[in-house]
Amino acid sequence: MKIAMGNDHTAVELKNIIKAFLEEKGHEVLDLGTNSTESCDYPVYGEKVGRAVASGEADLGIVICGTGVGISLAANKVKGVRACVCSEPYTAKLSRMHNNSNVLAFGARVVGSEMAKMITEEWLNAEYEGGRHQRRVDMLTEIENRN
Ligand code: RB5
Repeated sequence: MKIAMGNDHTAVELKNIIKAFLEEKGHEVLDLGTNSTESCDYPVYGEKVGRAVASGEADLGIVICGTGVGISLAANKVKGVRACVCSEPYTAKLSRMHNNSNVLAFGARVVGSEMAKMITEEWLNAEYEGGRHQRRVDMLTEIENRN
């Protein structure tokens, strides 16, 4: 799978850990930065990942900032993106199964690297269930289209 990754200055180290983890599992990582620990603006990287996923350039995306909140908000502004901040694996798994999340977010100041790996693994292993969930996911798209 091709996975786009983006992060701000708070998350360079964790991004590199998760990037290596994904590559070890055979995934291709599209690293959209930042790779600098100089203070920067998370919306830039959230939008980059959102656009890569929405355009089909990447299959899925992972975004990381201090809390995961700011960068997920930015990714969610791109039409077609369903980014979810997850601090534990259960929410990550269900965000795929029920909400068909296509971008995973977490906070480098919130989760440690082992927890981040578990969250990532559960999210990637889960499959969207469709069925009764599709109507609700379609409703999210309708909200997006009329606003
Ligand atoms: C940067 O200090 C911090 O605000 C940012 O990484 C993120 O947590 C925002 O949501």
